[in-house]
Amino acid sequence: MKNIDSVHHVRGESIFIDDVKVPENTLSAYVFYSPIASGKILKLDFSEALKSKGVKGIFSAKDIPGENQIGGIIQDENLFAEEEVHFVGHPIAIVVAEKYLQAKEASKKIHVEFEKHKPILSPREAAEKKSFIIPPRIFQLGNTENAWKECDYVFEGKVESGGQEHIYLETQGAVAIPIENELLKIYSATQSPTAVQRTIARILAISMNKVEVNVHRLGGGFGGKEDQATAWACMAALAAYKLKTPVKLILNRQDDIRITGKRHPYSSDYKIGLTKEGKILAYEVTFYQNAGAAADLSPAILDRTLFHCTNSYFIPNVKATGLSCKTNLIPFTAFRGFGGPQGMFVIESAIHHAANEMNIPVSEIQKKNLLKENDEFSYGQKAVNSFAIKSFKLCEEKFELKKLQDEVEFFNSKNFLVKKGLAIIPITFGISFTTTFLNQASALIHIYTDGSINVSTAAVEMGQGVNAKLKRIAAKTLSVDENRINVDSTNTSRVANTSPTAASKGTDLNGFAVIDACNILLERLKKVAAEELGEDDWTNITFKNEKVFDEDEPTTLTFTEIVRKAYIKRISLTAQAFHSTPNIYFDPKINKGNPFAYHVYGTAIIQVTLDCLRGTYETDFVKVVHDFGESFHNQIDIGQVEGGIVQGIGWMSSEELIWNNEGKLLTDALSTYKVPDIHAIPKEITIVPLPYDKEKLMNDEFKDKIGPLNSKAIGEPPFMYGIGFYFALFNAIKSFNPKINFIYNSPLTPEKVLMMLYEN
Ligand code: MTE
Ligand code: HPA
Ligand code: MOS
Repeated sequence: MKNIDSVHHVRGESIFIDDVKVPENTLSAYVFYSPIASGKILKLDFSEALKSKGVKGIFSAKDIPGENQIGGIIQDENLFAEEEVHFVGHPIAIVVAEKYLQAKEASKKIHVEFEKHKPILSPREAAEKKSFIIPPRIFQLGNTENAWKECDYVFEGKVESGGQEHIYLETQGAVAIPIENELLKIYSATQSPTAVQRTIARILAISMNKVEVNVHRLGGGFGGKEDQATAWACMAALAAYKLKTPVKLILNRQDDIRITGKRHPYSSDYKIGLTKEGKILAYEVTFYQNAGAAADLSPAILDRTLFHCTNSYFIPNVKATGLSCKTNLIPFTAFRGFGGPQGMFVIESAIHHAANEMNIPVSEIQKKNLLKENDEFSYGQKAVNSFAIKSFKLCEEKFELKKLQDEVEFFNSKNFLVKKGLAIIPITFGISFTTTFLNQASALIHIYTDGSINVSTAAVEMGQGVNAKLKRIAAKTLSVDENRINVDSTNTSRVANTSPTAASKGTDLNGFAVIDACNILLERLKKVAAEELGEDDWTNITFKNEKVFDEDEPTTLTFTEIVRKAYIKRISLTAQAFHSTPNIYFDPKINKGNPFAYHVYGTAIIQVTLDCLRGTYETDFVKVVHDFGESFHNQIDIGQVEGGIVQGIGWMSSEELIWNNEGKLLTDALSTYKVPDIHAIPKEITIVPLPYDKEKLMNDEFKDKIGPLNSKAIGEPPFMYGIGFYFALFNAIKSFNPKINFIYNSPLTPEKVLMMLYEN
């Protein structure tokens, strides 16, 4: 894959937070955090620590000139703990010293005494104690109460899904540099530069125009830096502001795992009712979301769980209840899929359960219930241009599902200690921030007099390739060579009021803004060209491959010449454009609306091989039919599908977060928290794009209704193919041990699998 950053990454030349050139007097900060999950701070004494070598200051809640508040959706989270601590890792203070290790050493000399309280760790326990972040959320379609009577079968069960640590390669961090007076320049590894700017202003009681936030790129975000990059930038800013000296704060890996949020663990109850033919008539589900100790993005994530609780299926009667349960764990946060995967895992479990009890193939139930054109989701939106059926059918045919299944059956009949398992899984994912107002972006484009072009947008590059895509969009729109274009860092002084780069919307929102800004510039340049050519009607002018055409006839003029002429004629070579997604709305009072610009569809087949002596497994292959729209950057899109699948499989397989009874995370290092490595990735990933009818694509049915250049968002949807891994592996286990129950409890670590193999 050729990302525009590849060369510099490989040479170690790309700028991450730790590479930002800082002044020589820059200080280092270390976060001092709570070692207990719940309690009252009785005594907090910095005197010994302050005497420690190199220490320049220690800052806690009482040093904050503004509000000690970083809550985004709900104002329920302090930057530093005040009287109480609510989770292990709750920041209490930062120690600032000349060197990082001095700050870390000094933090050990902070004297703190607690009155310990018993922590709440599980969401069901929180629910029993009525410890909620927000009131229950209920999405409803039809009437499940009436529908149960019509069902030939009704099954109930429980599903657990574990959390997930982001393991972005670059840990969280920021550098804060005081410029003059109150002005601060912040380098932050954030998906949301504006949230950092706004929150720093709030903490310091200064206005937002005093804070410039700059983001070159992130070494991965995956949602972990949508909301939770803010705190570290605020801390660095506070110290820099107080000491009038630059301050760098970067979490080490272990602290990052311990004290930053992760994917929410969920515990859920389902009840599914079907006819004997396998048509699902009713579905009730209750999600107990483990939100952790503060809201963070939990309410929005819970909503996405509800939006996606029926995955790719039309179910006429649905009641989905979401409970955001407040516990004494780290506030959980955004992670690729944003609650969607948790919702989809439950419906897929319910279907798997039903199929096994009814003794029919899972795929038969899946197929009977796939979304057809104009079917209604529980939130009121209709499925338009639904490719649920098309992608499933194509996947089934193209990859010969029946044959694959027969081969697995044959293999399993011949082998005792090695079993194979297969699963097929459709996905449907809604594209737009479900918080409607966030669906906005802008672009600022300068053309310089040498014909080079600088593009700034609200998009943050985090490895997903948004810069390469924006570059291509600008180049295509202006019909110039990509080499002319520099996609600049994301900077709040150049592009203001940015939404986070999230919800897979980075390219869509910013790409459309780039197209609009390019078109403004093109119109100006065409007018200049028309004047040069003595042509009255500028609309006859076109640019093609850096050349000027008049009524489709080539002229001798070039792009660069017209740019120079425009400058001499005092025509602005700068344009700004704003884009907001049209026709989306959602009423959170009735939970109905049209929240998504469109949906992304796809279907995957996953096969695993299980070693029944050891409980270990391998993924043989993942074969996917994916809905890219029209991909205009195939290599990046393929990379996103592959990466998403591997990350999804990791969530379902080896990535297990274990807390002890005191709420302390035990799996707080890469030695105990196992992310997929080169051996764990599927032996083969085959990706087939869902074919589009080209003519249909160009006409009104699609034009401008999906993403720029008729592409579709790619960042998150493929993650959910990984859910199929659970069922593939479960099927392999079941073929060895037919007596196991329908336990839907991810991740399926080798330890757990081994127990299931020999359970009776
Ligand atoms: N890919 C890489 N390499 N690194 C990342 O951090 N984040 C994912 C996805 N793919 C991520 C990634 C998440 S959670 C989202 S929402 C999207 O990228 C965000 O980028 P986009 O909107 O430009 O697709
Ligand atoms: N995805 C990601 N981030 C968000 C969303 C969403 O749907 N809504 C609010 N923040
Ligand atoms: Mo992605 S979880 O929306 O940052």
